[in-house]
Amino acid sequence: MNFDEFKKALEDNGQEHILKSYERLEESAKAKLIEQVEKIDFVKMRELYESTKKAPEVSESIIEPIAYIDSNKLSEEEKADYIRIGETAIQENKLAVVTMAGGQGTRLGHSGPKGTFDIGIPSHKSIFEIQCDILKEANEKYGVTIPWYIMTSNENHQDTIDFFEANDYFGYPRTEIGYFFSQNELPMIDEDGKLILNEEGLIKLAADGHGGVFEALVTGGILEDMKKRGAQWLFIAAIDNVLVKMADPLFIGFAIKKEYKIASKTIPKTGPEERVGVFCKKDGKPYVIEYTEISPEFANMRDENGELLYGEGHVLLNLFHISALEEIEKFKLPYHAAHKKCSYMNEEGVVIAPEKPNAYKFETFLFDAFAKMPEIGLLRGKREIDFSPVKNAEGVDSPETARRDYMRYHGIEER
Ligand code: UTP
Repeated sequence: MNFDEFKKALEDNGQEHILKSYERLEESAKAKLIEQVEKIDFVKMRELYESTKKAPEVSESIIEPIAYIDSNKLSEEEKADYIRIGETAIQENKLAVVTMAGGQGTRLGHSGPKGTFDIGIPSHKSIFEIQCDILKEANEKYGVTIPWYIMTSNENHQDTIDFFEANDYFGYPRTEIGYFFSQNELPMIDEDGKLILNEEGLIKLAADGHGGVFEALVTGGILEDMKKRGAQWLFIAAIDNVLVKMADPLFIGFAIKKEYKIASKTIPKTGPEERVGVFCKKDGKPYVIEYTEISPEFANMRDENGELLYGEGHVLLNLFHISALEEIEKFKLPYHAAHKKCSYMNEEGVVIAPEKPNAYKFETFLFDAFAKMPEIGLLRGKREIDFSPVKNAEGVDSPETARRDYMRYHGIEER
């Protein structure tokens, strides 16, 4: 794109304010800005902006509870059977793992990638190393090296690689961890649909949500790599969970034995108010209702055993057969707009830190892919062994709770 084309693209799309910033930039940054504009799908951006103005549709969908299996209530034989099947699959190198680490971690407020954060356990291992340890233990137990792919975003890609380099990949075989793959990004816009500029005067981009993982698995060559290795199952989880069991034979065996193409390990909600999405069926398809979407009436409904009818929390512990990933990749997942506080450079070149939300970020959600499949296997896990996330700087789901849960799980005494 030359300058005239760049100018025309901006003018045609009501984004002339970008030209003012262009004038202020050094030559190399000017070229970068042109490159950014060339990549923008303005039609899509206009549609996304218009979606922020629409009132939420009144849903006429039918929401129903969804069946799940409680791993804590399996018979000893069933358990042993699943574990045997899962262990065989791991030993036969059928498993690969993706850690999604492309998020911005805004609530935690740590300046680097979330995986570099030290939650304060005595060894002061970072979350990346905590998760790496979990895989190393599985490798040792099953005599394999599980391929570990790490999804980053442009914003933290290099910092993530630098951190692994500086820490010698925590002793993980370099050839099996060779894939740091970046997810896609979208421009952020303000409340008038104008592109936002970052502190450098370039267009502010943000990762396109954890639903971006499906496209990134293809563009990043991960599915190809899995095929080359003969891996059939991909466990996809978040960087923020310090208890994540990336190679759980019971869970893998459950999916294989029951012939599911997608399975999710659920964690029962602590109570109707817990802020976590829950599984249900929407118009007969698997679905996750966000805590913001569920009515108090539904959130409080219980079955004959006193269990919440909508109580199986989705906490990003998901297993996909490679064929399901190929299927899902063909669909476009819906975008969700998030209204965010976002500092920006104004037309005079001054950086402004707003006090209230001023910008929209557009994300796709991994769990919207579930509705693309006819069924999902749900296995209820246990919070104290499967899930303790680092989301907030303090209070619930913070470094403090994660440290406590990690220490308790590993039997480490508080000093
Ligand atoms: P969250 O939705 O909790 O977001 O991501 P976050 O970035 O960690 O934190 P906030 O909301 O900005 O405070 C859950 C998981 O999905 C990953 C995150 O890295 C985390 O592991 N994620 C999220 C991505 O990989 N890409 C995204 O675009 C969004």
